[in-house]
Amino acid sequence: MLPVVIDAALCKKDELCVHECPLSVLTVEEKGTVPTVHPKKAGYCINCGHCMAICPTGAITLSAFDGRQATPFAKENLPEPDAVEGLIKSRRSIRKFKKKPITATEIGELIHISAYAPSGHNAQPVSWTVLDTPKKVHELGEVVVEWMQEMVRQKNPLAEKLFLAGLVNAWKKGNDVICRNAPAIAVAWAPKLGITPQADTVIATNTLELAAHARGYGTCWAGYVVLAAAYSPKVLDFLGIPEGHMAHGALFLGHPAVKYRAIPPRHEAVAEEIDGKYIFKAKPNTH
Ligand SMILES: Cc1cc2nc3c(=O)[nH]c(=O)nc-3n(C[C@H](O)[C@H](O)[C@H](O)COP(=O)(O)O)c2cc1C
Repeated sequence: MLPVVIDAALCKKDELCVHECPLSVLTVEEKGTVPTVHPKKAGYCINCGHCMAICPTGAITLSAFDGRQATPFAKENLPEPDAVEGLIKSRRSIRKFKKKPITATEIGELIHISAYAPSGHNAQPVSWTVLDTPKKVHELGEVVVEWMQEMVRQKNPLAEKLFLAGLVNAWKKGNDVICRNAPAIAVAWAPKLGITPQADTVIATNTLELAAHARGYGTCWAGYVVLAAAYSPKVLDFLGIPEGHMAHGALFLGHPAVKYRAIPPRHEAVAEEIDGKYIFKAKPNTH
C-alpha cells in the first residue's frame, strides 16, 4: 500500500505537497498532472503529514492513519503571544497536591496532546506508564528508595553527590521528598536505540507538562524516579518498561494545592558578540 493517497478529483495540481515533502516522496511525472508517490521513495515517508497539512483542498490522506482527514486549523485560532508566554512563565513545579484524584483517562488526553510534539524523523517512539493513585506512586517510591539505600550501602559516588542518604532518611521519617505524595505519575520511555529517543522523550514530557498546566493540573518532574530507572532493573520492572528501553522523563500529576501570586525571575538572555556569533551564555545557578 502506498503511504500517501491523493484524491485526483480534489487535487488542484498546485504541487504544494511535492515541494513541501521533506523527503521528496511525492513527484509529478508531467506538469499539470496529479502528484504521485515516487516509486523508489515510498519507503522514505515518515508520515509527518506535511503534504496533507499544506493541501488547500484536503485531497491527501495517509494510509498509516486509515484515511483520516487533517484537522482544519487557521492562524486566527492561535493564542496571542502574551498568552503563550504567560503559560510558559507561570508553570511551576508543583510539590503539594490536593487529595482530588486525576484519572488515567485525563492523563491519557494529555498523552495524546504530547503526541503532537516533534520527534526525530517523526519516529514518535515515546510510550508512557501511568500510575493513577497515591498508593501506587508510594509503592514506586519504595522501590526507588530501595535502590537509593543500595547506592548508599555501596558508597557509590553518586550517593554522596546527590545526598541520597538524606533522602532515604527523610523517606523513613515519613517525609516524601521523592514522590511528593503525588496522586499520579506519568513516566515516559522509549527504545534505547533509535533516531533521537532521548530528545523525543524529554520533548514529549515537556509538552505534556505545558498541556497539563493549561488545563489547571499541577506537575513536577520526577527526577529521582528517572535516575533510579537508569540504574535499577527493579524500578524498570515495576514500571513495566521492557528490556532495551529507557525512561527519560517522568511527571507527578495532580490538582495543585498551592497558588502562586507571581512569576519568579529568571536570568535575562544577554548576547555577547564574538567573531560575528551571538553567544547567549547560560548563567548556571550557584548555590
Ligand atoms: C529533569 C528535571 C528533574 C527534576 N526532578 C525533580 C525532583 O525529583 N523533585 C522535585 O521536587 N523537583 C524536580 N525538578 C524540578 C526543578 O527543581 C524545578 O524545575 C526548578 O527548581 C525550577 O522551578 P520551576 O519548575 O517551578 O520553574 C526537576 C526538574 C527537571 C527539569
